[in-house]
Amino acid sequence: MKLRALRLSALADAPMAFGSTLAREEMFPEQVWHERSAHGASGADRVTFIAERDGEWIGLATGLANDPDHPGDPRPVLVGMFVAPSSRGCGVGAALVDAVVAWSRERRAIGLGLWVTATNSPAIALYNKCGFRRTGESKPLAHSPSIAEFRMVRDLG
Ligand SMILES: CC(C)(COP(=O)(O)OP(=O)(O)OC[C@H]1O[C@@H](n2cnc3c(N)ncnc32)[C@H](O)[C@@H]1OP(=O)(O)O)[C@@H](O)C(=O)NCCC(=O)NCCS
Repeated sequence: MKLRALRLSALADAPMAFGSTLAREEMFPEQVWHERSAHGASGADRVTFIAERDGEWIGLATGLANDPDHPGDPRPVLVGMFVAPSSRGCGVGAALVDAVVAWSRERRAIGLGLWVTATNSPAIALYNKCGFRRTGESKPLAHSPSIAEFRMVRDLG
């Protein structure tokens, strides 16, 4: 399945960029990928946008209506952002952010949040350019607690 292949390639390429791991997700039964795919396509409580070039899937980003790491916050959260290495630097990442922002606006969200690893300079630069600002909140990266993730938010008012 294309979604599984792209997500696993993201986890292999950038293990410190995500809260999950390749070892964990490559064990997921096929059912999990079908559910992710169906829910991501529905755009109800979750949306996944795919960047495609010449029929090849080269990037993805997901919006979740509720941030599992920030219960009670009304803002959706952007997760799973990935662009294949050979397609970086041409605006694909920014376009994926725009897509999740548009989905959030359709939901009348007041803002959009995300968590980014403190050492992930390309992602931090992308999010700064897209209007996200640090909130001051941080937490340890689940699988590598010596590394911090910090939260960024973009207002959509
Ligand atoms: C972070 C990532 C998604 C960026 O994707 P991308 O398609 O290369 O980003 P874009 O081409 O849309 O870049 C948009 C802006 O982000 C910034 N940016 C992106 N990559 C950058 C880099 N390596 N160095 C400096 N700035 C960068 C720039 O401001 C850029 O605008 P500019 O080209 O006009 O200067 C990509 O590097 C990636 O998939 N990394 C591995 C996974 C990851 O870290 N995911 C984030 C999880 S929170």
